[in-house]
Amino acid sequence: MKSSSLRVVLTALLLCSAFVAEATAVPSLDLVPLPRKVEQSEGEFRFTSATTVYCPVPQLRAYLADYLPTFAWRSVRSRVEVRINPSLGLPKEGYRLSVQSDKVLVEGADYAGAFYGAQTLLQLFPPQVYEGDFRSPCALPCVEITDWPEYPYRGQHLDVARTFMSVEEVKEYISHLACHKINRLHFHLTDDQGWRVEIASHPELTSVGAWRGGDSPIWAVYGSLDKKYGGYYTQDELRELVAWAAQRAITIIPEVDLPGHSLAIGKVYPEVLCPVERDNSRAAGYDRRNVWCVAREENYALLDDIFRELSDIFPSEWIHIGGDEVGMSQWKECPHCSALYKQNGYTDYAQLEAHFLNRVVEIVARYGKRPVVWNEAINGGNLTREALVCGWDGIKPCRKSTAEGYRTVIMPAQWFYFDMRQAPHEMGHNWAGVVSTEKCYSFNLDEQGFSPEQKALVEGFEGAFWSEIHLSARPHFESYVEYMTFPRVCAVAEIGWTPQQLRKWSEFEARLKGHAGRMDAMGIDHRSGPAPKPAGKVITPKMAMTTSMPMSKEEALGKLSAYANDWGYTTKRTCHEGDWVLWEFAQPIDNVGVELTTGYRHVPRGVVSAGVIEVSTNGKDFRRVADLNNGSATIRINRPTKAIRLRCTATGNGDTFVLLQYPVIRKNN
Ligand code: ACM
Ligand code: ZN
Repeated sequence: MKSSSLRVVLTALLLCSAFVAEATAVPSLDLVPLPRKVEQSEGEFRFTSATTVYCPVPQLRAYLADYLPTFAWRSVRSRVEVRINPSLGLPKEGYRLSVQSDKVLVEGADYAGAFYGAQTLLQLFPPQVYEGDFRSPCALPCVEITDWPEYPYRGQHLDVARTFMSVEEVKEYISHLACHKINRLHFHLTDDQGWRVEIASHPELTSVGAWRGGDSPIWAVYGSLDKKYGGYYTQDELRELVAWAAQRAITIIPEVDLPGHSLAIGKVYPEVLCPVERDNSRAAGYDRRNVWCVAREENYALLDDIFRELSDIFPSEWIHIGGDEVGMSQWKECPHCSALYKQNGYTDYAQLEAHFLNRVVEIVARYGKRPVVWNEAINGGNLTREALVCGWDGIKPCRKSTAEGYRTVIMPAQWFYFDMRQAPHEMGHNWAGVVSTEKCYSFNLDEQGFSPEQKALVEGFEGAFWSEIHLSARPHFESYVEYMTFPRVCAVAEIGWTPQQLRKWSEFEARLKGHAGRMDAMGIDHRSGPAPKPAGKVITPKMAMTTSMPMSKEEALGKLSAYANDWGYTTKRTCHEGDWVLWEFAQPIDNVGVELTTGYRHVPRGVVSAGVIEVSTNGKDFRRVADLNNGSATIRINRPTKAIRLRCTATGNGDTFVLLQYPVIRKNN
């Protein structure tokens, strides 16, 4: 080897080791979502209790003061400054953050930009900054960040219709989302199970429609029939939420789900529904119609009242008007709707849905609002192209919506539904599969076949938290909503914020480990680590099951006794008071825990909605050991037991069937 080449090699090695040394000296910042451009350098800014901050934006100053209370906020000579600078030349919501050893400067293109710059700044602090009242001296690493979001819409949906959440709970949820640069809360305020927004001109909507079970005309389809359950937000409370969210750069998009999912309002004002006669005997007389009549002109006057008030509460330019899962058989049976259908020459009832929604679009436009809809709303082909479409029902509707020229929020359940379980054996729905954080993060428009034209119509992404199960997680798992949302929403935040070419699961996963400390400090009960294991080994002792209820398939009980089907077995009607289900064991069982579930496993629907559990050592004499709660009970068996009986103590479950399940029996550890 000639000496010159040796020199080259040595220089290369030296450079290389210098690079490695530098790489290891620069701490990983674990920023979530990943900013577009990060240049780290050596050095640090010492932050002490004497450090002052200047922030001329009062709303933001008030926000930051909760995290860094020792700031002397008015000092213009501060070495730390957070401000808005519209002449930065950055896109909306963009910011620059510069940490040098003698100065920290955060500049946002607008309020949101300054807010997001401040969020990234907070992520440079030790996690304890999120505990509030942070006074410890610390070092912020020197770094230059230039950043703006890839998509204007980074949303999280929250269903407070099935499970009500208090104003304080929603505020906390919003705060946690804001730390991740989520900028939309899609607030699902009405559904079959409750109406949660005060409409002053129609107070019955909440005095009656916000409650289910007990003496309410709305029966509980989820949860226990004999307990009155519900709640609603006053307009003042909603205005407080709107202001809270705005301070955190989040727009609340309220949803009134129309024309389906409207059982609650239909119980308050039955005249809004199609006047069709139904045989309700299977549901013990309970009328389950839930679709607005399209042909009833007075309905649009009521909707005008609702949207006038809603528009006044929520400054969002967008209002979600629903459009999903409409039970169109009610229109087919309605003489007025079918006449309207014929009169317009429609060939598909989806056109009648769009007809209805176009009328609602006219109403919201009167109040300066633009419509958001679920993807089914475009199926008739005649919905206004003004609408923003939430594509939820798989990837195909998202492709269809963008192909047809609609701006679209991408949220197919298989990637974005946070009511799906995160691992095979934990709580949650599974009709769209298991949705792990990795599955969610892996969503990629190119891989899903979106053309450049279609991609240009993607407004952004949204996670969804539907709350049918949240209810049954309470009170023993109060933070279920957090567990199901975090860290999956961190993935949505990054999909919406960070350009695809900068996103890599392995790197995100590594950053998420550091970020977990921040979520802990925020008090978020996020999911981390391996899935929880069930306690005790499951055994399947031979048993026979019988019931007083007629089964929709006569052979079902035999199969059920064989522990065959995790889905459950359907009765031909709802339960009546005095109905029973009996499990008799070939050999007495002992020293076990028994989980008795009615309804879908993990979802309290199709349940025996009120009942008691009794056990017998001889198969003849029974003693009561537990009450059903949301259709389920877990009992401990500590003596040889021949039989277990469930006795139904109320009629009806708000549905036309009960799902029976085999018991899950675990040996005591
Ligand atoms: C939906 O999940 N029905 C929008
Ligand atoms: Zn009708």
